[in-house]
Amino acid sequence: MPFKNLNDVKEHCENLENIAIFLGYNANVDALKYISSKNDLYELLDEKNNIGDVKIDIDKVIENMASYPREIKTPEEFLARLILAMKSGKPVEIPLISANLSPNFKKWLEDLKFNEKRIGGQVGIIANLLSLLNLEKIIAYTPLLSKKQSEMFENKGNHANIFYPVLKKDGKVSLTNINNAYKDDETKINRIFEYKEFDFEFNNEKIDIPRANRLILASRPENLRIDISEDIKKELPEMGKDIDCAIVSGYQSIKEKYSDGKTDEYYFKRAVEDIKLLKSKNLDLKVHLEFASVQNPLLRKKIVEYLYPVVDCAGLDETEIANILNSLGYSELSEKILKDSRIEDVIEASKIVLEKYDLEMIQIHTIFYIMFICKKIEDKAKNDIKIAQLKKSLEFATILASSKAKNGLITSIEDLKMGLDTPYNQYGDLLIDLVSNISNSSEFTEYNIVLVPSRIVKNPKSTVGLGDTISSGAFVSYVADLKNNNVL
Ligand code: GLC
Repeated sequence: MPFKNLNDVKEHCENLENIAIFLGYNANVDALKYISSKNDLYELLDEKNNIGDVKIDIDKVIENMASYPREIKTPEEFLARLILAMKSGKPVEIPLISANLSPNFKKWLEDLKFNEKRIGGQVGIIANLLSLLNLEKIIAYTPLLSKKQSEMFENKGNHANIFYPVLKKDGKVSLTNINNAYKDDETKINRIFEYKEFDFEFNNEKIDIPRANRLILASRPENLRIDISEDIKKELPEMGKDIDCAIVSGYQSIKEKYSDGKTDEYYFKRAVEDIKLLKSKNLDLKVHLEFASVQNPLLRKKIVEYLYPVVDCAGLDETEIANILNSLGYSELSEKILKDSRIEDVIEASKIVLEKYDLEMIQIHTIFYIMFICKKIEDKAKNDIKIAQLKKSLEFATILASSKAKNGLITSIEDLKMGLDTPYNQYGDLLIDLVSNISNSSEFTEYNIVLVPSRIVKNPKSTVGLGDTISSGAFVSYVADLKNNNVL
């Protein structure tokens, strides 16, 4: 057990204090609605016009459950996807193109009451977490930075550490405290439906939600381009020199076509350039790509094919790795993962992706475990130290995740006590045994597979952003080990 008490955790956090990181590209506001009981759900399904004077057509909801809409335009399409998501207990994100919404759905959404607003998007969530962990410098780049958005970044460390690159009048780019760097941009708001575990009846069927999770209706503002303007882009090599690592994400917002004729290919090529520029003067710079729930299979494939060849580490949940495998043509293995969640299949899938794109590391997070898969170091003694360090990074990540699940937010390092006090889940020992058997099999002689069971919080306050918390905690901790000692 690497962390016996809060002091051990605090000591580990001190290792992260000399790390500087670049984060791109997605931050937004998350409007959260909690669906805590069947009555909360029945209220949404109410046929008697209670929300926005809109009458819900339950037969249409049932029809839509069969047709599985991937883009949402009506309340019935949304409710169908919500019920399907609740049935599976898996995380889902669906794009919402405002111009395409039915007038009914607009009215319905306008009248819907949300419980709270928080910072969202990988850049937003990760910047705030790393700020309170006192990283030296966090460059949080997001194309849209409204005043409201910039105020939601919280410089909570012992010094203001979240910066935004700003072009000054003299043509130079300066890293400015993000709270003062806002522009005249619109605010992107995503709507998050967080449901708890409960059972309910729908269409004469009793549905038992297997676990608390969330469905995201993600807005797609026309002005949002996953891109960095030329003036800032030309500074990326210098910026890269002064940082240790980067986390990139948000590619799920890229559209196939824009009104000005630009295409997804255009933005993917630019995104690849950004990473190459960041690395151009710093060959040691480590880049982690955090995947997301992407509805469109073609877009999924492009994210992997364009970007995996230029990054070092990949963070994924179980559904995401299954979806990637499907895009790569391994539909059988993908189906198996989605259906049975067997760790053997997840490991096989990870190996396929790791080898195909020559990644340094894959990190998988599921409800029951967090796992790193990477190549072994030949020297056995060194490799043993590496395994111990990887394990520690994962332990740290589960503590972060369970603290956040329990409290909804992590507000200080002291809050990590909540995670530390949460026991591992009941399958922990079984998972460790399974992985140790797989590691010893001939197929994996060249690999380290390191697993730490999750600390599951029974009734999580919220689940949105847990994956980002795990991935960034594990990755930054890994990079700190690379930087602060020479073993890895
Ligand atoms: C995605 C969503 C965002 C949410 C985040 C959490 O980026 O678009 O709304 O906060 O995932 O992981």
